Amino acid sequence: MLLLTQVVLLSALCATTLGCPTIVSRRQWGARPPRSRVPLRTPVPYVIIHHTTGNRCTSQASCSREVKGIQNYHMNTQRWSDIGYNFLIGEDGRVYEGRGWKTMGAHAKKWNHKSLGFSFLGNFSNRIPSAAALNAAKSLIQCAISRGFLKRSYTVTGHRNVNPTSCPGNALYRVISKWPRFKAKP
Ligand SMILES: *[C@@H]1O[C@H](CO)[C@@H](O)[C@H](O)[C@H]1NC(C)=O
Ligand SMILES: [Zn+2]
Repeated sequence: MLLLTQVVLLSALCATTLGCPTIVSRRQWGARPPRSRVPLRTPVPYVIIHHTTGNRCTSQASCSREVKGIQNYHMNTQRWSDIGYNFLIGEDGRVYEGRGWKTMGAHAKKWNHKSLGFSFLGNFSNRIPSAAALNAAKSLIQCAISRGFLKRSYTVTGHRNVNPTSCPGNALYRVISKWPRFKAKP
């Protein structure tokens, strides 16, 4: 009986890939297909943190709506080929697949070819993301390393550190500036 429990537990772990957060696939959130894709050469050395400045969301349904709205804005108004970020992070603790691991993003001018862009869903100028969202982001970084898409010697930085912008908001910026491997001058 103990053995059976262990087998069930082990196979559950293997199925989810150790260290990775729950990733809601494009199909699950109802993505439009991209107009085109440029491959990202991995493993990349940088993770760039953003916020979307959109609405707060705390469920898969509401975060999926937010992500769809951002994709429409990026494709229809910005005229980009797809949603700009590689991944988006909800305050529900789930991660939403944007361009994913293998496609170059459109999130940080001059840095897209050498980074993964992770964006927290919401406006974090005056408040910090939920613990679930912060844990999901940390887990996503470990996941990127374990899956070979991010260098072990990576640097994490804020969008404001590479382009003239207030992104990812003052409150969130203070949090990420305490993360291991953060650099203000990447
Ligand atoms: C984000 O929140 C700040 C502080 O409440 C506000 O000043 C700013 O306009 C917001 N940004 C957007 C794009 O809504
Ligand atoms: Zn940004």
